[in-house]
Amino acid sequence: MPTTINTQAKEQSKSNGQAKRNGEPTSELMELFEEQLKDILWAEKALIKAIPKMISLATSEELILSLTDHLKETREQVTRLARVFKSIDKKPSTKKCDAMEGLIEEATEMMKDCEKGPKCDAGIIAAAQKIEHYEIATYGTLRQFAETLGLREAEKLLKEILKEEKEADQKLTEVAVEEVNPEAASEEK
Ligand SMILES: [Fe+2]
Repeated sequence: MPTTINTQAKEQSKSNGQAKRNGEPTSELMELFEEQLKDILWAEKALIKAIPKMISLATSEELILSLTDHLKETREQVTRLARVFKSIDKKPSTKKCDAMEGLIEEATEMMKDCEKGPKCDAGIIAAAQKIEHYEIATYGTLRQFAETLGLREAEKLLKEILKEEKEADQKLTEVAVEEVNPEAASEEK
């Protein structure tokens, strides 16, 4: 009966976003939210290992500084993500993020053949910004999911991380435009 179906649909949509007390997901969006959280937690942990390699090859002091700051932020983001899991009554867990694995692999490959200097710095910035943009996309989606799901605490935490990622990306653009790219352009091959 159409009336019954409509009523069921309304009940279903009313329950969307409300985490049950036992922590079981109550909607498909909630399930997706949790999967994406696991994915980005894996990615952040992988970055904690990858960023120091970038720092060790970088020569621009500004670049070293911004990567070092972001490494610290990344560690804090892992802690914040644990709080997001807690806010939905879940234990933090990870799921391998193929996209981040690929981005890190690409960065590693580039760094393998790079000689320290402006060109290498420019390559590191390019790789780091690809990573930042992936993170910005993910946190933007996660924040929006949290808002739709009515998960206030999670939304607040994800918004904070998203802001940091955008600022890190902006900082890298500044280092590239103001220092590294012009230097690489003036280096003779
Ligand atoms: Fe991050």
